[in-house]
Amino acid sequence: MPIPCDALVLFGATGDLAHKKTFDTIQALFKRGHLDAPVIGVAKSGMTREQLIERARDGITKFGRGIDEAAFKRFTERFQYVDGDYADLETFKRLRTALGGAKNPLHYLAIPPVVFGLAINQLKAAGCAEGSRIVVEKPFGRDLKTAQELNATLHAVYAEHDIFRIDHYLGKEATQNILFTRFANAFLEPLWNRQHVKQIQITMAEKFGVEGRGRFYDSAGCIRDVIENHLMQVVGFLCMEPPYWPDMDRVRDEQIKLFRSIRTLGANDVVRGQFEGYLKEEGVAPNSQVETYAAVRVHVDNWRWEGVPIYLRAGKCMPMTATEVRVEFHRPPAVVFPNEQKPPHNYWRFLFSPRIEIGMNIQVKSDGERMVGQPLELKAVDQQPDEMTPYERLLGDALRGDQTLFARQDCVEEAWRIVDPILGNAVPVHRYPPGTWGPEAVNEVLLPEGGWHAPRLEG
Ligand code: BG6
Repeated sequence: MPIPCDALVLFGATGDLAHKKTFDTIQALFKRGHLDAPVIGVAKSGMTREQLIERARDGITKFGRGIDEAAFKRFTERFQYVDGDYADLETFKRLRTALGGAKNPLHYLAIPPVVFGLAINQLKAAGCAEGSRIVVEKPFGRDLKTAQELNATLHAVYAEHDIFRIDHYLGKEATQNILFTRFANAFLEPLWNRQHVKQIQITMAEKFGVEGRGRFYDSAGCIRDVIENHLMQVVGFLCMEPPYWPDMDRVRDEQIKLFRSIRTLGANDVVRGQFEGYLKEEGVAPNSQVETYAAVRVHVDNWRWEGVPIYLRAGKCMPMTATEVRVEFHRPPAVVFPNEQKPPHNYWRFLFSPRIEIGMNIQVKSDGERMVGQPLELKAVDQQPDEMTPYERLLGDALRGDQTLFARQDCVEEAWRIVDPILGNAVPVHRYPPGTWGPEAVNEVLLPEGGWHAPRLEG
């Protein structure tokens, strides 16, 4: 059993991520009793501890789930702040003093990846690295080469079992539900293969644009931002072989086996789009070719999935905000009811957002004399989004030392290997009007049989 961490160190404590998300997560961890240890913020801002506490209060109120006075009090009683430059070893020596008797701190790097190397080396030099674990946020590099470099930087000081790479899609209830539903139901798994599945579609649509994140987004684009990581993780859970969950590395062993059998993408497997108006966003280059939409076709060359296309699409300024997985089965033969139109494909559906749903579409006979059918949805799960946010779940897991839901080095590098050739301007970017399902070109180049299906949202 891993040893639980006895302190949480938040680098980038005055930054945007901490303000909008991390303090809210920390308060929730205190509220649930999942954290009761010193929390030390580190940043260079000139702020005092009290000012930073006020900023945390502001962030939780405006962007989080609101202040819970008792939990917030417990957190602030244990909160310290070290203000200083990451280039200055003194900052890290003061951190060591603030850590006091803590032997197994968790260092959370909510800072730009360019400073990871510096921060990690300073942690080591000041004696803060020994016995500790480290949490890093995506992006884990921007292509295969930089991902390998980043991993080398991390490994210079940390062993892989002490590195926690957060991809919040792995912490989502809906993602875990995929694996659970697949393997906890004896009737489902026998159908989950190329004999029965015709195709898979995953749509991650966002109605909003880049929301003030133009500078970051323009350095990334849709494939790097969500396809290489979030959607590939979902593919992993959908298509992997049964893992043995209680052993934390077995899930990732199955993930890597699957990723290794995914074909490297080529120019014919991708369509890129950019919403009209993107170039006017602050921080975006005036002639940017960066995509805000991408559709890709993935092939898994293994025994279970050979020949089953997996279509992924994600985009900003789409007609709705919703993420859905749709697993479509082959059609039954039309010979039994010859007067009927060809029976439609059954499908299994996992809706991630705006609510969590698991549903199955079946055909039933319409009331009356004729043998005519109609589709009916059997809903297995219908619930509001997680009460426990993915960040809270993941940070709690990292504090306990459970790596099951974190991206492992080999999986990260393999995911980059898959998308590497389609990054940048490998294919042209087509404009699309905001509020549509992306550029027309997708229908010419990458049209699934039967068309793309919009997430099914009721009411
Ligand atoms: C982030 C991306 O990782 O995931 C964002 O950087 C995206 O661009 C977000 O909007 C989507 O997350 P969720 O949980 O809202 O689907």
